[in-house]
Parts: sequence; C-alpha cells; structure tokens
Amino acid sequence: FSHHQKNSNQPAAAGQKRPRSDAGNKVTVVLGAQWGDEGKGKVVDLLATEADFVCRCQGGNNAGHTVVVDGKEYDFHLLPSGIINPKSISLIGKGFDLYCFFLCSSRYFNRNELIVSDRAHLVFDFHQVVDGLQETERQAQEGKNIGTTKKGIGPAYSSKASRTGLRVCDLLGDFKDFSTRFKNLVQQYQSMYPSLTVDVEDQLKKLKEYAERLRPMVRDGVYYMYEALHGPPKKILVEGANAALLDIDFGTYPFVTSSNCTVGGACTGLGIPPMNIGDVFGVAKAYTTRVGIGAFPTEQLNAIGELLQTRGHEVGVTTGRKRRCGWLDLVIVRYAHMINGFTAIALTKLDILDVLDEIKVGVAYKLNGKRIPHFPANMDVLHKVEVEYETFPGWKTDTSAARKWNDLPAKAQNYIRFIENHIGVPIKWVGVGKSRECMIQMF
Ligand code: GDP
Ligand code: IMO
Ligand code: MG
Repeated sequence: FSHHQKNSNQPAAAGQKRPRSDAGNKVTVVLGAQWGDEGKGKVVDLLATEADFVCRCQGGNNAGHTVVVDGKEYDFHLLPSGIINPKSISLIGKGFDLYCFFLCSSRYFNRNELIVSDRAHLVFDFHQVVDGLQETERQAQEGKNIGTTKKGIGPAYSSKASRTGLRVCDLLGDFKDFSTRFKNLVQQYQSMYPSLTVDVEDQLKKLKEYAERLRPMVRDGVYYMYEALHGPPKKILVEGANAALLDIDFGTYPFVTSSNCTVGGACTGLGIPPMNIGDVFGVAKAYTTRVGIGAFPTEQLNAIGELLQTRGHEVGVTTGRKRRCGWLDLVIVRYAHMINGFTAIALTKLDILDVLDEIKVGVAYKLNGKRIPHFPANMDVLHKVEVEYETFPGWKTDTSAARKWNDLPAKAQNYIRFIENHIGVPIKWVGVGKSRECMIQMF
C-alpha cells in the first residue's frame, strides 16, 4: 500500500496523461427483503419495460417469480422475468446454478436475446436426487429437514465450493474431459449416497445434445458485462432471486438457500465492480411469508395467518406448498437494509390487508424482557424472541383500484408512512394487485 501511495504522490511528468478509471453505466438491483416471494418478478417486469439487459446473478430454478401482464400470468424459475419484454436482453450470470435440462425445455429457449455466462455452474439431475436424499437424511437424523425446493441447489453449490463442479465452459469444451469429470462427480456422490443410481451414459448423451443447443447463446460473461457497462448508456437490471433472510451468509442459517441473495451476489454473480451498483430496490410484502422450515417470529398460526394465506393466494409457485403467513416484521426488513443499503423499497400486496379490522407490525425483538438492537444469528435465540408490535386501525376499503397516493385511504397512507420512517428508506412503489398497472408510484 505504502509503495503505491509513494508512487501516486510523485508528480506526473509534464504532459503525461494518466488513465482514468471510467465508472461506466450503473446497474439497478432488485432484491427480496424478507424470506422470498415478495413480488420481485412484478417489480422487475415494471422496470424491464425500459431495460436493455435483465440479468439473473444467483440461485437457480428454486426461484418462482410470477408476472401478470394483460391478464396473462407468467411463471419464471430460471429465466429473468424480463424475457417477456422483446426489447431487452436476458443474461444468466456466473453465480448461477444452471439446470440445462430445464432451460433447454423452456419455450423461451430459442430466443436469441438470451445470453448464458460460460462460468455458470451446472445442476445435474443427480444433484436434484441428492437434494431429496439429504432432506430425508436430515429428517431421520435431526427430526426436521430444511424444506428445500429439491431443485438441487444445495448439492450443486456444494460441488462448486468443493471444486468438483462443472460449468458451462466445461460442457462446451472437450467433451471427453467433461465426461470423465462428470463420471468422477457421480462416483463421489455415489460413495456418499450408495442408493443413488445414475444412468451415466444416458445423461452424457443428453448433455452432449444440450451443449450444442446452448452453444449459440454462451458468452464470456465477464467480458459481456464489461462491454455492457462501458459502452453507450444502457439500462441494466439485476433480478435477485430468493431473499435476504434466505442468504447463505446472512439469512436464518441453516434454514437458507445456498447462494448470496444480498447485494454482494450481484457483484460476485455477474462480475460487476461495486462502483457500478446504482439503485438497490428492496421488495417487501405488506405482511410476511415464509416457505419451508425455520424461525418466523411474527408468524400467525391462527385465523389471521389463514386469512393472509387465502386472500394472498400464498402458495409457492415452485413447489405448490402453502406459504406460512404472519404480520409484517420490520426487524427483518431493517436487517436486510443494513446489508443491502436499499435506495428505495417496493411495498407489495397492500390490498391483501384491505379487510382487516386492525393490522400489526413487528417493530422490535425482546429477549428476557429487554429489547435487542440486532437480528440474532443463532436460530435458538430467534425462536425465543418476543416481538414488540405497533397496532394500526384497518382501512377496511378496497384499494385494488388505487393508482396514485391520493387514491389510498388515510389509514393505509399512515401504515405506509410508518413503515417508511421505521426502516428509514423511502417507499417508491406500493402494490395493490397482481397486474403490472396495480403499482402506485410515489416518486
Ligand atoms: P417473487 O418470487 O418475489 O417474484 O414473488 P412471487 O411471484 O413468488 O410471489 C408474489 C405473488 O404475489 C405473485 O403471485 C404475484 O402475482 C403477486 N403479487 C405481486 N404484487 C402484488 C400486489 O401488490 N398485490 C397482489 N394482490 N398480488 C401481488
Ligand atoms: P423466490 O425467488 C421462497 C427456500 C425454500 C427452503 C430454503 C432452501 O421465488 O423468492 P433451496 O431449494 O433453495 O435449497 O431451499 O429456501 N426458498 C425460497 N422460498 N421463495 C424463493 O425464491 C425461495 N428459494 C428458496 O423454501 O426453505
Ligand atoms: Mg417466488
């Protein structure tokens, strides 16, 4: 460091030009601020109408993003929600777990606007089988599992971290070498799970075919992004999958997914320098849901929870499981903000609260009667916290037709203002229905 500083302190020779680091375009990142299914797809769809690129940077087909346009519902798992916008290019980054068996069967597969990073890791059928076997093992050993989506995410990210994973560039390289490494990987898993059967020859035959189908859309992802960032002005959108509380490092570990679903995942997943990160939009529901197992302090195992579940149609699009429901928990949204530095929030599904007499919001956690300022890392502690609530009178008015701030009842406006002030981040959009136009833009 001192060496560099010494050099940089030397006066430049007369007329000598020093290169200047060109900041380039900024990307806009959309991230989940709770436990997923906040409506990220809907926010991305809204922004994608003006975007040149829409990128997925992490996760895999464990995600399920629903977008409703002109009364038509689209579910996306692997592809960016921007793919329905014919003008934007969709990019699958390197931090991604690519299940090519699924991608190649997508009806959007042959669109030439789809670009796949050569550094993306591959998820194989056996990763998905192992995901199921690991869940069974957890259940047998600990009496509980994680409730994964069984899309092979955990095993594929494990292969990546243990440096035995295979990437898109390997699939497109020397197929003989790829086959050897594929067989070795299968053998490794078979030694761990003797009941695992894999028809290796059949898998390799299919993979060879997929390699050729993928080849035209594969690029060096880092160089491709660099060009997008440093060429003429471009609007680049990054669509986060999963959410802050499911992040492998910051979420409610071990009841999390295996990727970084917080803002760092956009940099590591796409090869974007931090200085190119522009707006970071957090998406939060006006209440809280969670799919799978794990602590959920504001969960309502009562008529309120059931009402939120049915009115909100809270059923996972990836697994068809009912989502657990509870009051909005601002402790977790604030925690998500500490990590992500949201520049604004999209508050979705306000309309679901329209019929309630009163609405509660979790504002703090207490342990042994004392408020704690942080979000606990230890799940045993999180199970024990007592939630402090603020109670608001319900507005008991249908908000689904509201299109601007003034169309909302004063009590709903109070609810929104309270949330905004408590998190300390402006709310830019309020969602009052499924479709694209049911989004009130505040500024
Ligand atoms: P994502 O995973 O974050 O993209 O969210 P999902 O698509 O899994 O779940 C959100 C669900 O809520 C989808 O079915 C959306 O169509 C729906 N949705 C999004 N915003 C709103 C809203 O403001 N009001 C209502 N009623 N539904 C919404
Ligand atoms: P979107 O992008 C909700 C949850 C699973 C499980 C845990 C680990 O639609 O918001 P995994 O299959 O990733 O190993 O599962 O994480 N989970 C999600 N829950 N929405 C998601 O994605 C999720 N992705 C993973 O339910 O509890
Ligand atoms: Mg979802």
